[in-house]
Amino acid sequence: MTGTAARRSNNSFQWPEGGVTRVPYRLYTDPEIYALEHEKIFRGPVWNFLCLDIDIPIAGDFKTTFVGEIPVVVTRDQNGDVHAMVNRCAHKGALVCLQERGNREHLTCVYHSWTYDLDGQLNGVAFRNGVRGKGGMPEDFDTKKHRLEPLRVEVYCGLVFGTFSDQTVPVPAFLGTDMERHVRRNLGRPLKLLGYHSQIMKHNWKLYAENVRDSYHATLLHTFYTTFKVNRLDMDGGIALSEDGLHGISYARRAKFEESAEYADSKVHAAQYDSKLDGPEMLDAWPEFEDGITHSIQALFPSLAIQLTLNSLAVRHFVPRGIDKTELFWMYLGYEDDDEEQTRMRINQSNLTGAGGLVSLEDGCINEFVERGTRGSTDDAVEFLEMGGRDVGPSEGSRATETSIRGFWQGYREIMGLA
Ligand SMILES: [Fe+2]
Repeated sequence: MTGTAARRSNNSFQWPEGGVTRVPYRLYTDPEIYALEHEKIFRGPVWNFLCLDIDIPIAGDFKTTFVGEIPVVVTRDQNGDVHAMVNRCAHKGALVCLQERGNREHLTCVYHSWTYDLDGQLNGVAFRNGVRGKGGMPEDFDTKKHRLEPLRVEVYCGLVFGTFSDQTVPVPAFLGTDMERHVRRNLGRPLKLLGYHSQIMKHNWKLYAENVRDSYHATLLHTFYTTFKVNRLDMDGGIALSEDGLHGISYARRAKFEESAEYADSKVHAAQYDSKLDGPEMLDAWPEFEDGITHSIQALFPSLAIQLTLNSLAVRHFVPRGIDKTELFWMYLGYEDDDEEQTRMRINQSNLTGAGGLVSLEDGCINEFVERGTRGSTDDAVEFLEMGGRDVGPSEGSRATETSIRGFWQGYREIMGLA
C-alpha cells in the first residue's frame, strides 16, 4: 500500500480504462476500500454464507462465524427456527459466544452476565435492580431496546445464509436459475459432515474470490491435476455465469478427454511425463451424475465456493481477517445415504484439497505471491485480464478464459459503486 492510496478518499477512486480487464492492485491494499466493502458488500444486498444447516442440528445448538470481519452467531431455537445475530454484546461490545460451536439454553456474555434468548432478545441483566436497593439500571431501562443485532436468515439446500439488508432478494433469485440448479445438483439432498478445518492465508480476501473463478490456472499451477488427468483444459468443459456475473461455475467432464497439442506446445511440464501414484486407490471414484461432470467449482458472491471434484464434495468459506489476511474454512461433505465404500472414496479424495491438499496446497501460497509481488506498486498498477476476450459471459467448450473473474469484478464494481 502506498501512503498516497491510504490518504485518498474513495471519491477520488477512478477505475482505469479497459473496464473489468484492468483491476487496480490498490483494491487489495487500500483501507478505505476495505471499510467500504464492509458497508456495501458484507452489510449490503447479498446473502452471506453463515454455516451448514447440519452444523446446528438440535435446539440450543450455536455456531460462530463471520460476515466480512463482523463476528456472527447462528442458533437453532426450541421451535427449530434458525437465527443469526452479531456476536457482540449490546452492553460493552464483547463477544458473547467464545467457542466455535456448542449448545446453550441462553447466550450469556461473560463480562457482565447479560443474557440473551436464542433469537438474540435480551432476557436478563445481572444486578438490574442494584444490590440492596442501591445502584442498578435506570427505571426506564427497557430490555427490548437492547438485543443482539439480527440478520435476516434463509436456509437453502443445507446452507444457512444471512443478510443485513432488507433489500436482498430471496436466495434463489440472488443466485439466478443456472446457479441455483447447480447448487441443488450438489447439495439438494440430506448432507453428512465428514470433517472440517481452516487455514490462514496472508492475502486480501478478493484474491481467493478470483482464484476460485480462475479455471485457466488449474492446469498450469496444479501439476497433480494435469499429471493424473483429474482436471485439464483439454477435457470437455466450460464456464457458466449468473447474469450479473457475480457467481460462476467452472466444470469439466473427465471421460471426454483428448490430449491436445497445446499442452506440448506450451511446455506444460506436468503433461510431459508419465507418473504413477504409490496409492492409486486415492483416486478411486465412481460416476455420480448423469450430466457427466466430474469436476466443478462453483463460486458464489461474495465468499463461498462449492467444490465437487470426482466425488470430493466440499464447501469453502473464505473470510477476511484483516485487509491482508484471509481465513479459509473447509467443510467436507457426503450424503446421508452414502454407503461405507462411497464415504471411504470421498474421504480419500479429500486429500486433493485443503491446506495440505495435493492440488490446493498451491492455492494456499499463490495468492500470497501476488500479495508480495504487488507490494510497493503505484496506484495505477493493474492486473491484466484478457484471456478468453474482454467480455463477461458464459464460455461453453473452453475454460482458457478469465470471464468468470471479469464477472466478479463487474458485480463488485456495481455493488461498491465504483463503476
Ligand atoms: Fe487453484
